[in-house]
Amino acid sequence: MASGNGSNFEALVEAGARQLLPAQVVSLVVNNPGCGASQRAERLGIGVTCLNHRSFASRDSLDGALVDHFQAIGVDLVVMAGWMRIVTSRLIRAYPERLVNIHPSLLPSFRGVDAIGQALAAGVRLSGCTAHLVSEEVDAGRILAQAAVPVVPGDNHATLARRIQAQEHRILPLAVGLAAERLGLLHSQP
Ligand code: GRF
Repeated sequence: MASGNGSNFEALVEAGARQLLPAQVVSLVVNNPGCGASQRAERLGIGVTCLNHRSFASRDSLDGALVDHFQAIGVDLVVMAGWMRIVTSRLIRAYPERLVNIHPSLLPSFRGVDAIGQALAAGVRLSGCTAHLVSEEVDAGRILAQAAVPVVPGDNHATLARRIQAQEHRILPLAVGLAAERLGLLHSQP
């Protein structure tokens, strides 16, 4: 699931292709037609489904359509790789322990929107990213993987975001592998 640029989505696809992640990305859902993630999926040959939130009456009905889609194609795990919508219990309960999110802070610090702006405003010298399971409380589910990065003098939103994203691309595939392992989804080759 992605809403914007899609660099984390591409990192997952690449990790699968290079067998750094024992899983394959089989489908991308976007909510913004033509977004960067959708363009990346077309280039990478991954099927894209657009569920535009503007066409749904509520968060719950959008999440119902997401669940229908994922059940129809039979996915084992769902990754929110830059999904800029709050999700409801409709999706969370359909994929317990199977819904992974990437957040640009060292949780539990700086939950919610604009975590990078929050970190800059707080003047912290260390920030980072967290891959975690999604629970009903926003940005509060079990932590799967984290990476720390320094905040250096002169940093702005763009420079810090770039440093954090480089780490996101590394830990998100790791976290998906860990989530799959916890669920017993990984089988050794015969
Ligand atoms: C990432 O920084 C992630 O932490 C946040 O949204 C951003 C998505 O970036 N949830 P991209 O679309 O994967 O490039």
